[in-house]
Amino acid sequence: MAEKEETKKTDLRSGFPVRDLGDGAMVSGQVDGEEVIVTRRAGEFFAIGAHCTHYGGPLAEGLLVGDTVRCPWHHACFSLRTGEALRAPALDPISCWRVERRGDEICVREKLAPSAPRRVAGGPSSIVIVGGGAAGLAAADMLRREGYQGPLTIVSADDAPPVDRPNLSKDYLAGTAQEAWIPLRSPDYYHDRKITLLLSSRVSSLDTKRRQILLESGRALEFGALLLATGAEPVRLPIEDGKESQLHYLRTLADSKAIIAKAGSAKRVAVIGASFIALEVAASLRARGIAVDLVAPERQPLERVMGAEVGLFIRKLHEAHGVTFHLGETVKRIRGREVTLSSGTSLDADFLVLGVGVRPSLALAEQAGLAIDRGVTVNEYLETSAAGIFAAGDIARWPDPHSGERIRVEHWVVAERQGQVAAKNLLGRREKFDAVPFFWSQQYDVAINYVGHAENWDAIEIDGSLETRDYAVTYKKGGRALAVVTVSRDLQSLRAEASMEAEPPSQRQHVA
Ligand SMILES: Cc1cc2nc3c(=O)[nH]c(=O)nc-3n(C[C@H](O)[C@H](O)[C@H](O)COP(=O)(O)OP(=O)(O)OC[C@H]3O[C@@H](n4cnc5c(N)ncnc54)[C@H](O)[C@@H]3O)c2cc1C
Ligand code: FES
Repeated sequence: MAEKEETKKTDLRSGFPVRDLGDGAMVSGQVDGEEVIVTRRAGEFFAIGAHCTHYGGPLAEGLLVGDTVRCPWHHACFSLRTGEALRAPALDPISCWRVERRGDEICVREKLAPSAPRRVAGGPSSIVIVGGGAAGLAAADMLRREGYQGPLTIVSADDAPPVDRPNLSKDYLAGTAQEAWIPLRSPDYYHDRKITLLLSSRVSSLDTKRRQILLESGRALEFGALLLATGAEPVRLPIEDGKESQLHYLRTLADSKAIIAKAGSAKRVAVIGASFIALEVAASLRARGIAVDLVAPERQPLERVMGAEVGLFIRKLHEAHGVTFHLGETVKRIRGREVTLSSGTSLDADFLVLGVGVRPSLALAEQAGLAIDRGVTVNEYLETSAAGIFAAGDIARWPDPHSGERIRVEHWVVAERQGQVAAKNLLGRREKFDAVPFFWSQQYDVAINYVGHAENWDAIEIDGSLETRDYAVTYKKGGRALAVVTVSRDLQSLRAEASMEAEPPSQRQHVA
């Protein structure tokens, strides 16, 4: 630790011995007050900003893969050469500095100018993105980064501009993130990049032949190419006598605000469901000092997704923070403040938050006659059954080369990365979407990272200790690792991702 702090203070302008920097090593220091990392890859030296542009993750603790560095926290990937954010969730570049070798010394010199924006002629006459969420914003961002000059419109049913949705159940709901941090981009961003943002505008129909969408307001919009990124909506539970005002769901900024407004005077809340969102809501409400009863039909939270061992770990984590679980139970009815469970148990609650899963928003795709299979069917280029119409994010079911199955997931990073790949393919680049799925969850001070995709498995291997919150759990089928869950093992998570990416195609299954 002392050694690390010592290295941090190194003034990289004054130089240091080349022998201190073996191939693949990273040295941290400062240049003009900015934290910088110097690294060496195959005889070349690179100097980059030390912090990820997503949430500021420490890149020195990340993984070098080729001439890129991957962030330990949520797996963003940056070019060491240009600093470009090559993969979400980071969208903005990190700074780069010129490195000079003088004899046996390495010195960091001036900061390099950011890469000039690309400009390409041609492409579709106009592009419309339906959906102002993770996939929609990442696609618009990439279209402009790729130099698309034509008219670009995001149409969103939401009244808020694209927001950092994962934060809505975490720090923002807990009261530790400011509202100003929640929009993904400022109004200037849309203005400067000439991205028209139509908010509170639900698209009611899509005509694939006439290349036209119709908004609920009656306005028609023509397009040259289209991306559907309509996301998902919470599953609603019919509860006997449950009044709308008592039942809260969480998808949008307005939903999170409504819960916060009620939390101000609440003493007890019943959280229904043991999904990631429900568990994160429980943790955030506990951070506000509110008593939480969590009601779910499962035997253990998240057992279906991560197995009984991790499920028990999550349950104990919440119990240690004072959450009371009512597992194997459902809500029968609500009378005033009294919530009656299936066993007859009564709970007292100011209000309820229901996190019982989401379903993809497919109405538009169905109306347009696109091929649907529990999601919008897309090919490896994320193109739907209609040429020039792409789909990305929570609605898309794509041929995943790693699991060998057609899968649909509900992960922030996957949605953004699909938006980015779809953007390139809207411009005719023909890039396959082959990223290994990744998601994270934050509950109290525990970050859980998941790479890969395992809908079922025949073996679970635990490396480390669940008790000490330091472990990696590998989910295997036929001896092959399908997914890895880690807690306090960020580098292991990055390595698992890289090794899944590098797996020879012969070991992957065929995608029908
Ligand atoms: C509270 C919360 C916390 C989460 N935390 C995490 C996390 O920690 N990690 C993780 O990996 N994932 C997390 N997720 C999941 C993640 O946010 C989603 O997977 C991701 O947002 C999906 O992106 P998307 O672009 O497909 O959809 P969305 O981000 O949902 O965007 C869909 C957009 O489409 C719009 N829309 C829908 N229908 C229409 C229409 N007909 N016309 C116009 N617009 C329409 C909506 O208004 C919205 O703007 C979380 C989700 C929630 C709700
Ligand atoms: S902080 Fe780096 S990816 Fe999130």
